[in-house]
Amino acid sequence: MKDLLRTQDLSRADVDLLLDTAAAFAANPLRSTDALAHRTVAIYMTKPSTRTRLASETAVAHLGGTPIFIRGDDLQIGRGETIADTARVISGFASALIIRTFAQSDVDELGRHASIPIINGLTDDDHPTQLLADWLTIREVFGSDISGRKFTYVGDGNNMAHAWLTMGAIMGAHVVVATPSGPWAPDPAAVANAQKIAAKTGAIIEVLNDPEAAAKDASVLYTDVWMSMGDPESERSAKLTALSPFAVTPQLMSLTARDGIFLHCLPAHRGEEVSAEVIDGPRSHIWREAYHRRTTIQAILYHLVRGELQGSALFS
Ligand code: CP
Ligand code: NVA
Repeated sequence: MKDLLRTQDLSRADVDLLLDTAAAFAANPLRSTDALAHRTVAIYMTKPSTRTRLASETAVAHLGGTPIFIRGDDLQIGRGETIADTARVISGFASALIIRTFAQSDVDELGRHASIPIINGLTDDDHPTQLLADWLTIREVFGSDISGRKFTYVGDGNNMAHAWLTMGAIMGAHVVVATPSGPWAPDPAAVANAQKIAAKTGAIIEVLNDPEAAAKDASVLYTDVWMSMGDPESERSAKLTALSPFAVTPQLMSLTARDGIFLHCLPAHRGEEVSAEVIDGPRSHIWREAYHRRTTIQAILYHLVRGELQGSALFS
């Protein structure tokens, strides 16, 4: 496996290895300070970022390398240089590229033309590095035996909903996504893909329109912003109205399992997709989850650069 372009690129064995290594980095961030010694990692972002940028830069630094942050239109790509040419040039300078942008197809194209690992740091369709942090947090709280547990996402059928379904399928979990029907439902192709993976792993995939049924007895209740980066402002009012029944309120949280927890990839909008009482309450694990963005990106860089991930040919 050269790149992490999509969540579905990871096999179950890759996820287990990455979570083990990330847990070791959480215990001792400086346990491999020469893994990227004298090497650079480019981080190119055409959308804003707090966690992914900070996690990526600190992960590279802790591995002994130098991060090169490149913002949006800093590259000649904005003036018509092709993705293929850009990929070849970056491959000559950096040992890996972490990219955050809009179109998944641009990330896929970079992967085809770069000789170095390309890591998806969020696209309109997917957010694989976030899901590793989420599942490390889940493993810390519940352990590795997730049988009988239900993992629920409620809200917009966006990149996080797709990634939640896919990673849950890889993990053999009972995953539920509840969104409004219509334009804010998850992409049917992402649902079909998760179902294809689930057929091999024994995962249970449910896509619902009822937030209460989705939250009932869940071990994890997860949500994300209702207006993602790049969403048209003209849709805001209709979208927020459609999503309002999916807000994670104390009442929705009270339906979860007795030991149920709240997770959110952040940034959060209190009073919109989640109430302050929930996100700032005792069942919220958001700060551990955010901290694991660094430990998991550190693990991805460590193993991808060493060529130690097998990839999920199983699922293709
Ligand atoms: N969760 C996440 O990706 O956060 P940022 O947008 O701040 O990177
Ligand atoms: N769905 C959100 C996730 C932010 C981490 C977005 O794409 O803006």
